[in-house]
Amino acid sequence: MTAYDIPFGVEVDFETGAMEAADRVIVRRASGMRGYYADADALEQIISSGDPIHYRVYEKAIPEQEGHLLFCMSVLEPGRVGREFFFTKGHYHTVADTAETYLCIRGQGIMLMKTTDGRWAAESMRAGRMVYAPPFWAHRSINTGPEPLISFCVYPAHAGHNYGDIETEGFPKRVIYSPSGPSLADPASLC
Ligand code: F6R
Ligand code: ZN
Repeated sequence: MTAYDIPFGVEVDFETGAMEAADRVIVRRASGMRGYYADADALEQIISSGDPIHYRVYEKAIPEQEGHLLFCMSVLEPGRVGREFFFTKGHYHTVADTAETYLCIRGQGIMLMKTTDGRWAAESMRAGRMVYAPPFWAHRSINTGPEPLISFCVYPAHAGHNYGDIETEGFPKRVIYSPSGPSLADPASLC
């Protein structure tokens, strides 16, 4: 028996997104995002001005076994790299036929999703809205607002993370600032 074979509860703070007594806090700083944004020079400027935190993920160390559910709080800071809003790296699940559900707690943004056969989708994220990433769909959160984008997510514990072609190819759309509001742009238009 592990600690997680018996019921437990945990507190989360909806204002900050912090999970009390998290076993792991994954912290990604700007320097961990090299290669992901179109404007590499703008990212380097952000890194040299203090390498701020891009996002944090709070988790309990649930066994990564079929039957269990992994859940997390994801806190993505507001900001832009060049014209692009801050985003998470994005990933497929290693066990590709596993889904994930996000519940947005605070902030506003977009979840971009894509498949290896070229389909893509964008769903808005705002407090009180749930977004479902079905099996086989890679998913990336983008913070388009002025405050942290805080989400609760839950997925099969054996799913794993596969950053695969996202590190080299990114997503078919990028989310950029425009005076009339966030808009989706083709990656080629930002080169
Ligand atoms: C888990 C999941 C989230 C993300 C988190 C960070 O399957 O989708 O917990 O891991 O939002 O994003 P990545 O892992 O893409 O850096
Ligand atoms: Zn996921």
